[in-house]
Amino acid sequence: MFITFEGIDGSGKSTQITFLKEWLEEKKHKVLVLREPGGNIVSEQIRTLLLDSKEEIDPRSELLLFTAARAQLVSKVIRPALIQGSIVICDRYIDSSVAYQGYGRGLPIDDIQVINDFATNGLVPDITFIFDIPVEDAALRAGFRSTNKKSSPDRMEQSGEDFFKKTREGYLKIAEEANRKIFVIQANEEVESIRLQVCSIVDSFINSM
Ligand code: TYD
Repeated sequence: MFITFEGIDGSGKSTQITFLKEWLEEKKHKVLVLREPGGNIVSEQIRTLLLDSKEEIDPRSELLLFTAARAQLVSKVIRPALIQGSIVICDRYIDSSVAYQGYGRGLPIDDIQVINDFATNGLVPDITFIFDIPVEDAALRAGFRSTNKKSSPDRMEQSGEDFFKKTREGYLKIAEEANRKIFVIQANEEVESIRLQVCSIVDSFINSM
């Protein structure tokens, strides 16, 4: 079973990923948590390039680098883990490319889908959670607004509020148009209420398998 978490920076995905992992492990499932870009040596090196680079990166190049990191992660880590019966939880996946590079940067969505389909060899998540939150609230948590910096923003976080607004809208369009299981979670609700929603959705899916 393959579960992905999506949402703009500062939407609170990582807290909920930790809760879901704990809950699944209590139920004796084997769980592997990964993050994108990353999860193996090659993809972590691409991550450093993408997030720490002081150079301007062309949007097409940015898309291909994120997707190259994804291809390596799918083939070397995700598919083998799924074959062994683990539940794989990934912090970001294809929808991040569609939302950030497509709706955010303005690259053609159809091309992004074709490139990602090639990179992942068609691996689609069973469940996707999109954490939706107003950009202003997310900015306070993620620190990508200069006045509220918790730590210095990475290259993506420096893209500005307009970019994140387009990205957020993009995520909502993805959810509207999807023909797979995508659940939009109101990410500024209470942490415990979100935890219960996420666990109950995963529980129903497991029971239906
Ligand atoms: P990260 O620090 O992991 O962000 P978060 O904790 O919010 O998930 O950084 C990943 C950044 O890369 C984040 O700004 C989203 C961006 N990204 C894309 O633009 N496209 C992609 O395909 C992926 C996977 C991430």
